Amino acid sequence: MPGASVHRQLPATQAGRRLTMQTPQVHGKPVRASQSDYSELALPNDANVLGNVLGGKVMHLVDLAGAMAALRHARTPVVTASVDYMNFLHPVHIGQLIVLRSSVNRVFRTSMEVGVKVWVEDLLTGERQHTSSAYLTFVAVDTAGNRVHVPAVIPETEEEKRRYEEALRRREYRLELRERSHP
Ligand SMILES: CC(C)(COP(=O)(O)OP(=O)(O)OC[C@H]1O[C@@H](n2cnc3c(N)ncnc32)[C@H](O)[C@@H]1OP(=O)(O)O)[C@@H](O)C(=O)NCCC(=O)NCCS
Repeated sequence: MPGASVHRQLPATQAGRRLTMQTPQVHGKPVRASQSDYSELALPNDANVLGNVLGGKVMHLVDLAGAMAALRHARTPVVTASVDYMNFLHPVHIGQLIVLRSSVNRVFRTSMEVGVKVWVEDLLTGERQHTSSAYLTFVAVDTAGNRVHVPAVIPETEEEKRRYEEALRRREYRLELRERSHP
């Protein structure tokens, strides 16, 4: 039956949660199945004292856009495990459109790396500038909070294949940092 899963309970993890093994009948999904677009107009409520958008507002939108891609891929609830560093290359002015695009770069077991790219669009001129990029890791869980395995992602284009390869190196670095900060 397409999309059906076989569930098997494994021993409790250190955190007391259980990992529910899913053996999906589908072998994977293309990256394009997770690609998500999200836009929001920058309003005065989002401004810092200079009248530009707060960095935290952009970070919030990045988390949302990232979660959308992870949900589209996994079709199960997800939690944010980590966000890699973010640069803000240009200020976002009130009245401009914040445009975000996200997709799953690579799936590991219960976690997946999602890339999010952010542009700012001047609605009067149509000009777009790349302002930020970020990599986030989401972990798939079931409705009881047990971690679940995620179907693989299939990179098709050259760019998707590059991101897929690079995601493994980023994961190793991320997990090393986590180990160092919480040995
Ligand atoms: C993220 C979370 C599920 C990890 O659970 P855990 O019991 O520590 O489980 P593990 O260490 O076995 O990690 C589970 C998976 O997450 C990955 N992971 C955990 N911490 C990570 C981190 N900081 N960065 C990247 N991946 C991470 C692991 O590599 C593993 O991936 P895999 O199954 O694909 O191999 C758990 O810490 C959690 O629920 N955190 C809160 C999430 C949340 O509420 N986010 C919103 C914050 S407001």
